[in-house]
Amino acid sequence: QLADSLFIINNYARDYFQETLFNSEEGQSVGLSYFEERGFTEETIRKFQLGYCLNTRDTFVHTALAKGYNLEYLQKTGLVTIRNEQPADNYRGRVIFPIHNQSGKILGFGARILGKHDRAPKYINSPENEIYIKSRVLYGTYFARHAIDRQDECLLVEGYTDVVSLHQAGVENVVASSGTSLTQDQLRLIRKYTNNLTILYDGDSAGVKAALRGLDMAVEEGLNVRLVLFPDKEDPDSYVRKIGADAFREFIAENKQDFILFKLHTSLQDAGNDTQKKAQLVNEIAETISKIDKVEDFTKQQDYIRQCSQLLKIDEQGLVQLVNKFIR
Ligand code: CTP
Ligand code: MN
Ligand code: MN
Ligand code: MN
Ligand code: MN
Repeated sequence: QLADSLFIINNYARDYFQETLFNSEEGQSVGLSYFEERGFTEETIRKFQLGYCLNTRDTFVHTALAKGYNLEYLQKTGLVTIRNEQPADNYRGRVIFPIHNQSGKILGFGARILGKHDRAPKYINSPENEIYIKSRVLYGTYFARHAIDRQDECLLVEGYTDVVSLHQAGVENVVASSGTSLTQDQLRLIRKYTNNLTILYDGDSAGVKAALRGLDMAVEEGLNVRLVLFPDKEDPDSYVRKIGADAFREFIAENKQDFILFKLHTSLQDAGNDTQKKAQLVNEIAETISKIDKVEDFTKQQDYIRQCSQLLKIDEQGLVQLVNKFIR
């Protein structure tokens, strides 16, 4: 009952912000031009149902209340807050990215500030409520699920704009973790469609670190994980705009690397001649390999043991024994 009410309000807000974007003066001159500057076409904007919230104190909430929507529920969705004891619009002056569930219903919104964001956060996202549980949502699933199924691969990016841009470039099997580090629930969601996950995080150290954190979890979930590293300061959205759709698809195909081997390479470089660090690294890799399901994927585990022992310059049987120690 409450969940239904929240869906109805989100639905209304989605339509309202879209209407504002396309049919109001400010929506066109501010919101639409922002999207156009980013290279989003009208077709893309309509497909993702992007919108704009007027930069006024409470135009949206007054319209919604006049239509009979309940103030308490409007607050629960995060669309409205109480400011100086009066209801006020939470996303004012921002462009709106509706967040769809797998069947296209609106769970919540991401609202991006225009221009610089020194004082205010770049994105304001819906708070968690009865229908929006952040750790269980991947942005873009609704638009990507058929392509993921068809291509038997899911690309994972950080942000809303990465998903939108890649779709426009003809890459449709893509979802976003929305900045959060990956959760088990999100991995399970991916696992429903495919076993093959390719991580396309931003080309900064934060992006790589976030990706690494998810690795063991993803391996445990039975996923084959690959990674594409972007040049520094680029993310999939900025990079596809820079080099174009065809070159981007080529870049992805040519730069995919196995994530376990990537982790080993970078840690090896990191360890240098430090024997203690190297011993710890051998342990970590053994633990990661141990998480590959041996029953379902025996040869996969064997392959990793062979490749990793060569890279580490250690005895293969020794690594087998170590891996077995981690299997209960
Ligand atoms: N994010 C957020 N709140 C912030 C910053 C980021 O929720 N203050 C989430 C958003 O989902 C965002 C994602 O983390 O899409 C990735 O962040 P970032 O790379 O900083 O933003 P971009 O998606 O690249 O957005 P833009 O290109 O518009 O700067
Ligand atoms: Mn920033
Ligand atoms: Mn980032
Ligand atoms: Mn970006
Ligand atoms: Mn980014």
